[in-house]
Amino acid sequence: MVHGTMVRRPVTLPQLQQKKQQGEPITMLTAWDYLWARLLDAAGVDVILVGDSLGMVALGYQTTLPVTLDQMIHHAQAVRRGVSHSFLVCDLPFLSYHESPEQALRSAGRLVKEADVQAVKMEGASPVVQAATRRLVEAGIPVLGHVGLLPQRVHQLGGWRQQGKTPQGAEAILADALALAEAGAFGIILEHIPADLAQQITAKLKIPTIGIGAGPHCDGQVLVTADVLGLSPQVPPFAKVYADLGTQAIAALKSYCQAVKSRQFP
Ligand code: KIV
Repeated sequence: MVHGTMVRRPVTLPQLQQKKQQGEPITMLTAWDYLWARLLDAAGVDVILVGDSLGMVALGYQTTLPVTLDQMIHHAQAVRRGVSHSFLVCDLPFLSYHESPEQALRSAGRLVKEADVQAVKMEGASPVVQAATRRLVEAGIPVLGHVGLLPQRVHQLGGWRQQGKTPQGAEAILADALALAEAGAFGIILEHIPADLAQQITAKLKIPTIGIGAGPHCDGQVLVTADVLGLSPQVPPFAKVYADLGTQAIAALKSYCQAVKSRQFP
């Protein structure tokens, strides 16, 4: 305590692990620039993800596929300047880690050195992603896994559909999660899978699971911040809108324009 206020210490990986053991839910949201990073950090979010969803949310692409490593570094640098407490994770974008573990190490190394992120996230559990996870962890870069719906495979999957609905699909996702944990991931995102499958994976893993559209039994929850705040043109069925900032912002901007036109401002 300092002058009657709680001192918030930066969130660490061991603390995230401890939260799983103690059954305390982990909070995670996405940020794409300094402004949103400051707000999320002030709100006490445990983990801030510079997700490649920024390609759709902030850059206006139809999918996350066009996002480049340089764009991720640029946005992660801005986010870093707004974060003082939350644990900072950044996505490795499409094709920045699929060639080889060495390519993954070079890409992740740039994010750590140039943007000071504390961990990186890769999608899927293909042999190269498992090997890349091992390589990064060996080099000291924490890795967050991501299974279930993989937005970087949206064309292959035929859209943003729920995954793991058949017994074979569920088994494959469970195997992917176990393989990533075995490779050294510190946690796993479970995206858009049935709640009972997420519950089963969460019970089997010693590392935390963070769900997005994966039901209430995960060790934590993540959403895209623009969806939570009513700033997205389209919100996925599993997201919850906690404020309609989009409508409020347009009303405020209209008031400003009206005031200028009518010479009420300045
Ligand atoms: O890019 C992103 O925002 C993500 C989250 C949806 C987990 O990967």
